[in-house]
Amino acid sequence: MITVIMLAQFGFAQTTQNAKMKTFIDALMKKMTLEEKLGQLNLPGAGDIVTGGQAGEDNSQLAKKIKEGKVGGLFNIKGVEKIRYVQQVAMEQSRLKIPLIFGMDVIHGYETVFPIPLGLSCTWDMNLVERSARVAAIEASADGICWTFSPMVDIARDARWGRIAEGNGEDPYLGSQIAKAMVRGYQGNDLSKNNTIMACVKHYALYGAAEAGRDYNTVDMSHQRMFNDYFPPFKAASDAGAGSFMASFNEVDGVPATANKWLLTDVLRKQWGFKGFIVTDYTGINEMVDHGIGDLQTVSARALMAGIDMDMVGESILNYSAKSLKEGKVTLAQIDAACRRILEAKYKLGLFDDPYKYCDANRAKTEIFSDAHRKEARSIAAQSFVLLKNQNNILPLKKNGTIALVGPLADNKENMPGTWSVAANFQKATSVLAGIKEVVGDKVKIIYAKGSNLDADEKFEERAGMFGKALGRDTRPAADIITEAVNAANQSDVVVAVLGESAEMSGESSSRSNIEIPQAQKDVLKALLQTGKPVVLVLFTGRPLAIKWESENVPAILNVWFGGSEAGCAVADVLFGDVNPSGKLTTSFPQSVGQVPMYYAHKNTGRSLEGPWFQKFRSNYLDVSNDPVYPFGYGLSYTNFSYSDIKLNSASLKGNQTLTASVTVTNTGSTAGKEVVQLYIRDVVGSVTRPVKELKGFQKIDLKAGESKTISFSITPNDLKFYNYDLKYDWEPGEFVIMIGGNSRDVKSGKINWVK
Ligand code: BGC
Repeated sequence: MITVIMLAQFGFAQTTQNAKMKTFIDALMKKMTLEEKLGQLNLPGAGDIVTGGQAGEDNSQLAKKIKEGKVGGLFNIKGVEKIRYVQQVAMEQSRLKIPLIFGMDVIHGYETVFPIPLGLSCTWDMNLVERSARVAAIEASADGICWTFSPMVDIARDARWGRIAEGNGEDPYLGSQIAKAMVRGYQGNDLSKNNTIMACVKHYALYGAAEAGRDYNTVDMSHQRMFNDYFPPFKAASDAGAGSFMASFNEVDGVPATANKWLLTDVLRKQWGFKGFIVTDYTGINEMVDHGIGDLQTVSARALMAGIDMDMVGESILNYSAKSLKEGKVTLAQIDAACRRILEAKYKLGLFDDPYKYCDANRAKTEIFSDAHRKEARSIAAQSFVLLKNQNNILPLKKNGTIALVGPLADNKENMPGTWSVAANFQKATSVLAGIKEVVGDKVKIIYAKGSNLDADEKFEERAGMFGKALGRDTRPAADIITEAVNAANQSDVVVAVLGESAEMSGESSSRSNIEIPQAQKDVLKALLQTGKPVVLVLFTGRPLAIKWESENVPAILNVWFGGSEAGCAVADVLFGDVNPSGKLTTSFPQSVGQVPMYYAHKNTGRSLEGPWFQKFRSNYLDVSNDPVYPFGYGLSYTNFSYSDIKLNSASLKGNQTLTASVTVTNTGSTAGKEVVQLYIRDVVGSVTRPVKELKGFQKIDLKAGESKTISFSITPNDLKFYNYDLKYDWEPGEFVIMIGGNSRDVKSGKINWVK
């Protein structure tokens, strides 16, 4: 009863607020000229990383435009003073004094950088995910930013695609939970506070399914796959109240997303009820000329009429819409609707009340890169690492003796934050070498050697070291660099090889056709193994790498992604056992690039391989089995967990009943640890083919040494729903396999029958 009254009150308050907002915006829009309305739809870039220039006085063209009311917002401009200055131009020198909105790519933290999103997803801990976004929002808002181009919720199943690093992996269910947590973290429950910022969910949609994993490439997929696999995180973010969406660069059904009315209006707005605004990606409208769907005027009209509200960088909506309106190619109603949505966003952020509310120089001094935030980033980073192998319990290392620390990534700060860390000060990041020194002091002797360059090919290394992240080239012959590392190994008790990708080997426009560790680094790894010393591979990467050989030959592998500004200390915390690793993979690790796209929730064919590989006329390869090296959901701990058989409270259910599935998980080792208990369901027979298993729940639990806990999942028909051939979202009665385990491969299962 109380809840009902509270909800009714909340609904009432919301309606009053909406009515107030409408009255305010109606009045404002009455005063606006067509040009001023179009100005609100214009988002030029002013960021240091884009132009290298400065906004305001130093950029007279931009200031002139702002004064004329031709700018709705700016993006990637950093610093509270600069932002205050530009806002002043709008507030003091433009006719209607409409505040600007300031956006930025705050992707995984601001100056305090958290793990790249793919790493963060491996925590499977929604509190940590939300917390990382909360801290990012606090820091960004303290520095003048009120809008972030995050979360990136693209499902990615192709390790070649560099932007797999920016998302949450291959699974729609997990991706949806993370999407919601990120929106909550950024926006909180009150967007008008001065320390919450508006989320922008991107890249809508299907961007992660680019053909051949090549960035920006063509996408072509069935509507069933869109709705069942690629759309869910977007819908979840919209349901969570995300304030804005970004259209993707790729085409959807033959029409670029930016001009795809079905995608932007019919699905997002009408079907899902999204109420915010939609921005293009960077020059997304202009690029449609090259896509081949018309000249600049045509594509800008198409984008606007499809449902785009804001034009990032390209300025074609600003420049062509008046002409298009005269010629009947766009409608005033559409321009008004777009303008209203931008003004509503500014209203919700409270910018009309106080345009400088995010420009508090005091906050900027105290709340950015604070000790408390760095501590959280260090702890979250350590929990994002995935222990892939630990033969003979080489890890954790003892805090004594001598360690050979080898590898091109072992003594580098700039690469630790990973791709898309535009607000970071790389000099403040901690390298692995510095992190180890901080954690072990002088109890351990460390002999450092570079071991190899990032790659033998200098040109490749240049491409992989952009944005000030070059690792520096060692010009000695490769054999000499290796010999130095082998000498270090020979004088040590254990070798820690810090290898893999540089930060810019993943991220935007960083696709790879070879997803192995570069050969130059493999060469030193082999030489180190030949010394007979125990070798621990600390693997930096922004994508699942093909590490079959390493998985067979290196005794211990810790995958650390890019852990953020505190990565170095976090790596040391895990290496020396101060933190017990608990991350689990959110993408399958293939044996070879030829297997991608690879994902656990695949379907059966009529000729699926059952039994041993290889079988003629079955769906398999001549040269490699179908298995991943490490499956989705996989990750080890310094302790071990055992799973009891699965218990189902009923074997036959009807209608809206609830099934309870449980297992008892026991920590059989001698240290406390965390385990991610995962629930998968298989719908055995459907009106359309169904995946062999789908994640439907998970719980991250703490278990002391020797402790057991019974973990239960409640399953209702809601968990069985999917989009059928007619895209109707419902469940179908029949047989289901219920599976629980510590990864997607090793599960305990039971069967049920569920009738309607
Ligand atoms: C990227 C977006 C990003 C935008 C603004 C584009 O190239 O695709 O993810 O938000 O640039 O920096």
